[in-house]
Amino acid sequence: MKTEIYLPTTENLEICAELLRSGELVAFPTETVYGLGGNALDPLAAKKIYAAKGRPSDNPLIVHIADKETVNVLAVRVPEKAQIVMERFMPGPVTIVLPKKDVVPDAVTGGLKTVAVRMPSNPVALALISRSGVPVCAPSANTSTRPSPTSAAHVYNDLCGKIPAILDGGDCEVGVESTVIDFTTEKPRLLRAGGMPIETLEAAIGEIEIVRNSKVALCPGMKYKHYSPLADVFVALPGEGLKERMRAAYDALAGEGKKTLIIALEDTAAEMGERNVRLAGKDYADYAHNLFAFLRDADADGYEAVVCEGADERLLGASVANRLIKAAGGKTV
Ligand code: TXA
Ligand code: MG
Repeated sequence: MKTEIYLPTTENLEICAELLRSGELVAFPTETVYGLGGNALDPLAAKKIYAAKGRPSDNPLIVHIADKETVNVLAVRVPEKAQIVMERFMPGPVTIVLPKKDVVPDAVTGGLKTVAVRMPSNPVALALISRSGVPVCAPSANTSTRPSPTSAAHVYNDLCGKIPAILDGGDCEVGVESTVIDFTTEKPRLLRAGGMPIETLEAAIGEIEIVRNSKVALCPGMKYKHYSPLADVFVALPGEGLKERMRAAYDALAGEGKKTLIIALEDTAAEMGERNVRLAGKDYADYAHNLFAFLRDADADGYEAVVCEGADERLLGASVANRLIKAAGGKTV
């Protein structure tokens, strides 16, 4: 299959919307990461998504909407706190899990009786979804286990030949996926840290349950290998001796003959001497924006090992910390 890249002109948006209506897949930009979209009411479209990504079919897809009313097509009810989140933070990088209606196929929810709903803020995403006239189910548009794509080129590298269309809306602003909150439990529960800080949500709806170190995966997606570049990734946990630990880890890896890279924020990067360093930016928002792209670049540049500065579990740091630990497969220094 030939994969076309479309710039988001009116004409091209219509071509892509028609592809979605006819059961085909279109990769499209959102403010978080690129999504691989299909008609959320069509089980065959969902199957194509799983096949293109090589994704286990018990890992449910998020359904993207372009207007808030569509939530009532998908969900049996919207609890009060979920309504507040919709009013205050949608469109934006947050996903709410609700009890699903029968129109949402099991193929989309991995057999769960719940549906994850999100309204992205990216104008190209909104234009595509509203033109298509259907809700759009979309996971991140990467090959399963690879870092999520934050540019059309990343999508092309992973899915060329497997999907008919990529809508190129430039680089994603946020760079990490949406925050996922489950509203089907008694107390709202965090399923995945992401682009919307948990502190911001809690200020609006009160306490959100955060289950740490759970032995069982909270949402199906959490049990799978994730965000892995080919290079071996190590995370330097924040705290005592961070810079020393990073320099020592780098020197040990380089000493084994491995082409090694450090990814660090400004203050830390400044103290890494002559080592190969990639500057993640000045704060966690920059880090989130750059992380997945840098991991992909590390592979493209032939790095065999990457030592990353870890992040504190607050604000956007929580999402960065989570992605880093997964990319590293738990390896810390
Ligand atoms: O920012 C994002 O959320 C991006 C863009 C494209 O919107 N999408 C994304 O989708 O990250 P994906 O499929 O890579 O991650 C969705 C996560 C998975 O961990 C999945 O298990 C969880 O959300 N999820 C989806 N539906 C769920 C449900 N009904 N119950 C629990 N978890 C669910
Ligand atoms: Mg994903």
